[in-house]
Amino acid sequence: MSQVFNPSGTRAEILGCGIFLPGDPIPNSDLSKLMDTSDDWIRTRTGIEQRYWVQGKVSTSDLAFEASKRALENAKVEAKEIDLILLACLYPDHEIPGASLFLQRKLGLSGIPALDIRQQCSGFLYAMSIADSFIRMGMSKKVLVVASEVQSKGLDRTTKGRDTAVLFGDGAGAVVIGAKSVTDAKKDSFIYSHHLHADGNFAESLWIPSPGTNTEGHRITHEILDQGGADLKMNGKIVFQNAVTRMPEVLVEGLNANGLTIDDVDLFVFHQANIRINDYVADKLKIPSHKIHNTIHKFGNTTAATIPLGFGDAIQAGKLKKGDLVATAAFGAGFTWAASVLRW
Ligand code: ACO
Repeated sequence: MSQVFNPSGTRAEILGCGIFLPGDPIPNSDLSKLMDTSDDWIRTRTGIEQRYWVQGKVSTSDLAFEASKRALENAKVEAKEIDLILLACLYPDHEIPGASLFLQRKLGLSGIPALDIRQQCSGFLYAMSIADSFIRMGMSKKVLVVASEVQSKGLDRTTKGRDTAVLFGDGAGAVVIGAKSVTDAKKDSFIYSHHLHADGNFAESLWIPSPGTNTEGHRITHEILDQGGADLKMNGKIVFQNAVTRMPEVLVEGLNANGLTIDDVDLFVFHQANIRINDYVADKLKIPSHKIHNTIHKFGNTTAATIPLGFGDAIQAGKLKKGDLVATAAFGAGFTWAASVLRW
């Protein structure tokens, strides 16, 4: 599915961005104290050097709230101007209702629609495409799009869970997206396109089976928990093989749809699952390394939050400026994959 470049009429522009990481960074060496792993294994296999994990009763919507405040400030938009909240996350604060409701309450925005997007690592790009559509249809004027992840509370931080525990981090990123009347399609800042894909045939290659309704009896039992049914399960090799195929494919699809080439793009901000995946994509498409902003070494894999964290971190590093042409691509559980192209 795609929403493609058509500069006529109302379009959507990113007005500001904010990011939030909880507490102090946790270096790989600290994980060796919890499980049988090493800095060398983690670094060489994934590129990760450290990650952030929340302490105590900090929830998904807490991190989302901090990132949202910063995004609103950066956009110079007051919270009361927001007319739609979209929150992408893996784990909500509670089973029901969605984490977007708790974020809405924290922002003091009762009454406006709030929606959770559960599309894992592609969740932020799926959410951006919905925000873009609502704005282009005239249903919304200013949308808060947030991706927030507290994954640490779902990780088995023992040797049994080391294959996934070392990969994931907590954090949040948010953007404020507003309506824009485009006058110069080549220069104006606005979102050009989204290309979204999914293939449920790979659902079990990266998943958490329980709690769920695909059971004979109750959707969560002591037996299910004891058998690890609520733990993340990943076939790392299948994920890797599909990611290195789908990410370049969807990126090229996005650029072609807009008549653009790699050379036209100022900055590439990819999902951060594994530095080897991103290096492979860069190599395959011959993208010079200075045009790519990776953050996995600092933040680990923050699933849905990797792309807005990448935007925010690139701004802080002086690598992303108003007017830059940005291309993004994500791949994650589902499998889902997506690319968005925009002028910042
Ligand atoms: N520390 C030390 N040893 C470990 C660890 C660890 N944290 N985890 C696994 N090992 C061991 C395994 O037990 C295995 O030991 P064995 O050979 O004695 O059986 C050995 O290391 C190799 O394990 P593999 O799983 O084969 O390691 P691989 O080289 O495939 O790397 C990885 C694992 C990094 C996950 C890889 O499969 C990969 O890059 N997959 C891509 C998917 C990915 O990065 N997913 C992240 C999240 S998904 C997403 O965001 C899209």
